Amino acid sequence: MSSCNRGLMQAYKLARVEQENATSFSLWLDGELPNASPGQYVMVWLPGVGERPFSLHSASPLALTISCVGPSSKAICALPPGGTLWLRGPFGKGYVLEGKNHLLVGGGYGAAPLTYLAEEALNRGDEVRVCLGAASAKDLMFVEKLREIGADVFVATDDGSQGTQGLVTAVVLEQILHHKPDSLYACGPTGMLMALWDLCEQHNIVAQLSFEGIIRCGIGLCGSCELNESLCAKLGLPAGWLVCHDGPVAKLMPSQAKAKTITR
Ligand SMILES: Cc1cc2nc3c(=O)[nH]c(=O)nc-3n(C[C@H](O)[C@H](O)[C@H](O)COP(=O)(O)OP(=O)(O)OC[C@H]3O[C@@H](n4cnc5c(N)ncnc54)[C@H](O)[C@@H]3O)c2cc1C
Ligand code: FES
Repeated sequence: MSSCNRGLMQAYKLARVEQENATSFSLWLDGELPNASPGQYVMVWLPGVGERPFSLHSASPLALTISCVGPSSKAICALPPGGTLWLRGPFGKGYVLEGKNHLLVGGGYGAAPLTYLAEEALNRGDEVRVCLGAASAKDLMFVEKLREIGADVFVATDDGSQGTQGLVTAVVLEQILHHKPDSLYACGPTGMLMALWDLCEQHNIVAQLSFEGIIRCGIGLCGSCELNESLCAKLGLPAGWLVCHDGPVAKLMPSQAKAKTITR
């Protein structure tokens, strides 16, 4: 059994594969990352295919959940059990649990790192509510697993095939109004993250949002993952914020909380 080294590629055997929805698969590897935390990612390399970042779905044992969207992700998901994947990491800043009442919001593959975070929070005896959004019921992941481990789960689908019809932000707003969380944690498309940040600003909630970028070096050297300047300005992050190294998770304080800190 392997345990990854941050800088060097290390080989892992694929132990088993589980299909999570129409196009996503969890790859359980023969190894663990005992010092990793939810929200961190590893760089996965397949010879002849390339290298891509993937968030941890579990650290011990090591698991990644991959949505097949393009050539690299499809090739990785096609690897048969017993095949070899090369990993370096874990990299980046993950989520830090704050308070006792957590609201987690996932879109797309975002449900995978958030399931890992939910497990950690529930192990501490905290309250966990999870809102998951998807285009359709067939695109949802981890709804039953999250319920089994003790989280309250609320679903929104664009076509209404499961849960509330519409955007996940409507379900999130309902949760905020009924059980104002100590912190909101999210992973998903940038549009969803920005809409959640608006809600957090309006309701004075600290947010931890996981952003995407084109990650190549993973260690803050090449600059390819720099978050777009206008997003940085909207979020109050410094220009040149690097997804690979400063993130992928950004902790954002709402303006009301900032104002209180300054006037105290
Ligand atoms: C921090 C982080 C964590 C991620 N975690 C997951 C995860 O847990 N599960 C999951 O399915 N996907 C995850 N992704 C996305 C994943 O890395 C790939 O972008 C995705 O699998 C598409 O790659 P592809 O080659 O199959 O598709 P392609 O068709 O080649 O690319 C599709 C899109 O992927 C993006 N992309 C291409 N190259 C890179 C790169 N080097 N780094 C990042 N994005 C790239 C581009 O936006 C591109 O338009 C994560 C991305 C980041 C940045
Ligand atoms: S990927 Fe090279 S600086 Fe972020």
